[in-house]
This record gives sequence, C-alpha cells and structure tokens, in this order.
Amino acid sequence: MTAVNANIAAPRMLQVGGGAVRQIADVLGKFGLSRPLVVTDPFMVSSRHVQHCLDPLVAAGIVVTVFSATVPDPTDTVIEAGVAELKRGNFDCLIGFGGGSPIDTAKAMAILAAGAGSKMRDYKVPVAADKGALPVIAIPTTAGTGSECTRFTVITDTERDEKMLIAGLGALPLAAIVDYELTYSVPPRTTADTGVDSLTHALEAFVSKRANPFSDALAVSAMALIGRHIRTAYAEPRNAAAREGMMLGATQAGLAFSNASVALVHGMSRPIGAHFHVPHGLSNAMLLPAITRFSVDAAQDRYAEAARRIGFADERDGDAPAAAKLVAGLEALNKELSVPSPAEYGIDEGVWSGKMDLMAEQALASGSPANNPRVPDKSEIVALYREVWTGAARNA
Ligand SMILES: NC(=O)c1ccc[n+]([C@@H]2O[C@H](COP(=O)([O-])OP(=O)(O)OC[C@H]3O[C@@H](n4cnc5c(N)ncnc54)[C@H](O)[C@@H]3O)[C@@H](O)[C@H]2O)c1
Ligand SMILES: [Fe+2]
Repeated sequence: MTAVNANIAAPRMLQVGGGAVRQIADVLGKFGLSRPLVVTDPFMVSSRHVQHCLDPLVAAGIVVTVFSATVPDPTDTVIEAGVAELKRGNFDCLIGFGGGSPIDTAKAMAILAAGAGSKMRDYKVPVAADKGALPVIAIPTTAGTGSECTRFTVITDTERDEKMLIAGLGALPLAAIVDYELTYSVPPRTTADTGVDSLTHALEAFVSKRANPFSDALAVSAMALIGRHIRTAYAEPRNAAAREGMMLGATQAGLAFSNASVALVHGMSRPIGAHFHVPHGLSNAMLLPAITRFSVDAAQDRYAEAARRIGFADERDGDAPAAAKLVAGLEALNKELSVPSPAEYGIDEGVWSGKMDLMAEQALASGSPANNPRVPDKSEIVALYREVWTGAARNA
C-alpha cells in the first residue's frame, strides 16, 4: 500500500485564514508579480464576490483585467478564448478566483499558452503537462476541489464529450490564498456537493495504491475535519468554525490526492459530469457508497481506519465492522445531504444505459481506476453504473 519513493509537489506558499484574501497584493509582491489577469466566472462578477479579490489589488495600485467567461466544468473552447485574452495583454500571472472551475481554467490557460500543443487534448494523461506560460495564484471560494494546491486540471473536450484529466507541474499553482470567509455565501446544495468532493479526495488518497506517509497525514487530518464539519456547514452557512474546518479539510485533501492520486470514484465520476452535466461533487456522492462497498474488502484496514477518522466508527470497532460502518455512514450522509439518485436528478434511464459502455471506457482511460484497492475491469464498471442507477447500494 505504501509507496517507497513518493514524488511530492505543493505550491511555494499558502496564505491561510479568515480575511487572507486582503493580502493578495502582498502575495503577488513576494514573487515580484504586478500584472495579473483575474480568471473568474460570471456569477462571481454579477454578485460582486470578485471584489474581494479586485479591491485590495486596486488599493495597492495594481491594474486588473478580468476574464470571466469561465463555465462550470470548463471546456477546451473557453480555455482557447482565455489564451487569446492572455495574448492581448502584457500579463505576468493568472489569478484563479472562484470554485474549481475558474481555478482549473486559469491553470489550463497557463498550460495551453506555454505552447507545446495546440489543443487541450494534447495534454491529457498520460502526457506530463509540466510547463505553464505564467504562474497561477489560486483563491478558492468553495471548499472544495482542493485545486488550489493540486497538479491537476480537468477540462472537457467538447468534440468528444470527455472530461479530460490533465496532470503536471504546469497545473500546480505557485501560491494559494485559502480564506474560509469567502465560502459564507455558498448555498447549501453546493456546500454539500463540494464538501463530498473533498471527502472523496481524502478517502481516495488514503486508500490509493499510490498512498504514501506524506499524503496519509494530510488525508487523515482532512477526513477528521470534513467528518466533523460537513453537516454543520450545510445546515448553518454562517457557522465560522464549520466553514473554517471545511476549507482547511478541502485544502489538505487536495494536497493529499495531488500526491497520491484519486481512484475509482473519480474515474467513474468524470464521465457522468461530461455526459449528464451533474456537478462534480454530486456525481461523486452518487457513486461513493456503491464503489466503497465494491472496494472495501481489498483494503479493509484502510477503509476501517477511514471510518474511524471520519467518525462513522470508533476505536472499539474491529476492522470488519468499522469498514461496514463506512459504507452505511456514507449512505446515511447522502440522505442527510439530500443527494439525489441519477433518476431523481432527471437523467433518462435509456440514455444512462446507452452510455454505460462508453463511460466505462472513458473511466478506464483516465487511469484513476488503476489506483483503486480493487481494480475493476470494464464489465465491473458497467455493473457499478447499473447498480448506482437502480439504487441497489442505497436499499441493500
Ligand atoms: N483540479 C483539481 O484538482 C480538481 C479537483 C476536483 C474537482 N475539479 C473540478 O472543479 C470543478 C468543480 O468545481 P466546484 O465544485 O468548486 O464548482 P464550480 O467552480 O463550478 O462552482 C459551482 C457554482 O458555485 C458558485 N460559487 C462558487 N463560489 C461561490 C461562493 N463563494 N458563493 C456563492 N456561489 C459560489 C459558482 O459561481 C458556480 O455557480 C469541476 O470541473 C471539477 O472537475 C478539479
Ligand atoms: Fe474531485
């Protein structure tokens, strides 16, 4: 389970805490940067949330340009438009401000602008996307993808309806500002979805075949924080302790999976996002109980420890009961967070069945399933998609 020789990468600096975003100009200054292109989404602009980033920059005399054409689950065409905008100005860095979508957009713009390939698909795994034309400073407003400290960006190939995993040092931000106060305005549904995404990152990093002592420490801490705070953050959006715990947990989970990889849940989740436009965290949540049940016997000690850290089991539980409590706990958490089944979400059964084969192929091609404790073949992935549809995992 433990890799002997792990490659660890992280941003050079993290500014972490309530109000940290007000230090944005100082953070840029430390790296001699002063000409940012701020990448965000239309809601951040219309709701004026982006001012949390722009005001301190303007106050420091920095001229800011904003690219706000980001879409949820960013596409190759948006990245190309972003690179065109980048080339029109004399910028020395990119600031990704928002959820995972704007941050991933900023990262992908840096990679595409570096010029080794002409299309985003030229960089998808197993290619190493190690070059970025400009440094990225990431400021997450959800808790969250952890993208602020990962070496990944996830971009949709619009011609092939494929959410591509792009990995390499070109996607790793130079610095991140992790300010939980930015998440007070996140609505409950997005709080739940992004929170389950973080929990999945921590759990998958912990059970991954590429787990190592460095990623384990972060995954364990993240599971405890997210397990303790996710329900409160969902029910009480202004609860500072819960928002702070979730943000810290999301960033730690990002560092954990960036250095250990995600596994089968993410491998199967990306095709659901690409074909049915289900928010990323929500498609993870739909899959998480069934895939954990499928995988649990292959690394019972790890899953049991995860159950204890998240708070579904305690120290008196042996490995077998603790691992069973993990599956039951994840099912109960989905109910508490009102996670719909694919049918309840409005997906057509015939279309889902018709896509299962292709989705299984795309999941396998991403490489993530190979990190799972139990590595499935294509027919097992198809069976899992079918099980998630029928709700067998929920009702068993
Ligand atoms: N690069 C990585 O390591 C990594 C890891 C996991 C997921 N991802 C990717 O990240 C994307 C998902 O990111 P996400 O889940 O953060 O969602 P998102 O960025 O798409 O944002 C979801 C919605 O929440 C809104 N929002 C964001 N912050 C808000 C705030 N503070 N207040 C109110 N509304 C707010 C956005 O405007 C948007 O409408 C997916 O494309 C996923 O594949 C990347
Ligand atoms: Fe994720």
